[in-house]
Amino acid sequence: MMKKGRISTGIYGLDDLLGGGFRESTINIVRGGTGVGKTTFALQYSLFGLNRGEKVLYISFEMSEEQIIRDSRDLGWVELGDHIEEGNLKIIHLFGEDLTFPALDFAETIRNSKPSNNPMIVIDPLTYPTFYSEKEKRKSLSTIFQELRKLGTAVIVLEEPADGNYIPDGSAMPLYLGDTVIYLQNLGFGEMYDRTLRIMKHRGSKHGEGLYPYSIETGLGIVLHASEKQIERVKPKTIFDDMFKEAIEKTKSMGSLGDRLSARIKVLQKNWTREDDPSQILALVLEEEKK
Ligand SMILES: Nc1ncnc2c1ncn2[C@@H]1O[C@H](COP(=O)(O)OP(=O)(O)OP(=O)(O)O)[C@@H](O)[C@H]1O
Ligand SMILES: [Mg+2]
Repeated sequence: MMKKGRISTGIYGLDDLLGGGFRESTINIVRGGTGVGKTTFALQYSLFGLNRGEKVLYISFEMSEEQIIRDSRDLGWVELGDHIEEGNLKIIHLFGEDLTFPALDFAETIRNSKPSNNPMIVIDPLTYPTFYSEKEKRKSLSTIFQELRKLGTAVIVLEEPADGNYIPDGSAMPLYLGDTVIYLQNLGFGEMYDRTLRIMKHRGSKHGEGLYPYSIETGLGIVLHASEKQIERVKPKTIFDDMFKEAIEKTKSMGSLGDRLSARIKVLQKNWTREDDPSQILALVLEEEKK
């Protein structure tokens, strides 16, 4: 079930680890070396939304529309072409060299070609030098991201050297500009743990902190193989509800300060994913807040 205010990633098993999916109007970065499945991720995200009535703008710096349709077909996603015909999916094939004033141009391109208000947006891939502007590189990229957030919910694919070591000078992407960063890795041993996914950050909610094996299945795309234990770790626990209730009861003698505190404790309760009981933390907070 889709959680309110969340955009499903479409990656099987990932939404649960992200508190329900991507948040609306955010920049979500999928980074990794060549062949890890970044484009597959981007297409799967698109297709999942498209099949649920969303509109998608897919900006491709690498593959043409024909190539994207063909690759999708090979994965078993035959309906991509239909979505293009119906006007739900728009693919633009861009070349980095065509962008003269990167920041302005790029947002403009998106504004002019978006298929609807608030579409899902994909950029595959964004290489930092693509947006190289002589001065203030950083500013131009953060400007682009700021614009993007106003336009829709974006997945940005970021290509990185496989070994993670060699990054050409000045071309490293500042990851702090993204709201979510997902790291795909391929260790190259050809075993189950060969491909792993890690959520490096996810602003605004708890996220799974494990190393999750994944596979790419023809017909499905990316499927995560998180263990029961790993999934349990991100689920809010209800067994301590009595302790939270008791703490909230105690805030009632604190006046308006108590109202705010009880609201916060309710948020804490809703997000309590830990196995250990919260009584000590609650006692500490009540004590401190009385000051
Ligand atoms: N039809 C398919 N069925 C199963 N697995 C596939 C299929 N097509 C591709 N793959 C797997 O996905 C990998 C490539 O995926 P993808 O193109 O999404 O990677 P990428 O990270 O975008 O790579 P690139 O650096 O080329 O952009 C392949 O190496 C292959 O293992
Ligand atoms: Mg790719």
